[in-house]
Amino acid sequence: MRLMPTKKGSGDPDSDMAQVADPTHGARHIAIIMDGNGRWAKKKHLPRALGHKKGVEAVRDIVRVAGEMGIEAMTLYAFSSENWNRPADEITDLMGLLRQYIQSDIDEFDENGIRLKVIGNYKALDSDIVQLIEGALERTAKNDRMTLAIALNYGAQNEMLRAVQSIAAAVKKGDFEPDEIDVSHVSDALDTAGLPPLDLLIRTSGELRLSNFLLWQAAYSELYFTDTLWPDFDKRELQRALKSFGDRDRRFGGR
Ligand code: FPP
Repeated sequence: MRLMPTKKGSGDPDSDMAQVADPTHGARHIAIIMDGNGRWAKKKHLPRALGHKKGVEAVRDIVRVAGEMGIEAMTLYAFSSENWNRPADEITDLMGLLRQYIQSDIDEFDENGIRLKVIGNYKALDSDIVQLIEGALERTAKNDRMTLAIALNYGAQNEMLRAVQSIAAAVKKGDFEPDEIDVSHVSDALDTAGLPPLDLLIRTSGELRLSNFLLWQAAYSELYFTDTLWPDFDKRELQRALKSFGDRDRRFGGR
């Protein structure tokens, strides 16, 4: 049973938490566009690389908190297919952080029942990273407390294109007719197949765009934008986003 306060609450996520039995406010799947590492570093007169490093620390904390809250799935936009346009040294930094993150946190994933999933065309990354990812996917495959889906070399249009190609191939093979294709065929052909519907999509740093992230999956998601830069996004910010989610009236196109 989901116990909610009878009034809308004080707006203070901490005091409202005491009244709420379910800290997820009913959200099963959250996705985050983690934006603002560069601006965080610039504000502090630090190199961009340190902004990304601090961004990984925020990832670590938020994954732990989300698991403790009972969120079933969290999808994080770590590297988009457009991020290849960044300077080579920044790409090297980001890939280095990814290597380190998987190596250093894999034990914690296992201890906390976190199943790793990767969405996007990760096989185009350096072969040692692909190996690390595949080892981690295999090792955590049976964990069932929370799925952490990391978007790597991900773009929603490319994801949908690959889904269309696989559906077309199934039609060609005679599995079904074109007019039998339905929503579930498409959902099942996307990289996010098997994850709960996306409830809440968060973007940090004040930008109001989806930037080619989960375009199909966001059809009925609630959107939450905050000016907070990603390295500063913490448990309290997540509670605030979930509180806002819980206060919304979701009608899914009905009345
Ligand atoms: C946006 O900051 C951030 C990214 C490029 C993606 C997020 C990457 C991380 C949090 C680090 C790596 C993550 C993992 C899971 C290992 P930005 O550089 O676009 O910031 P700006 O818009 O302020 O310049």
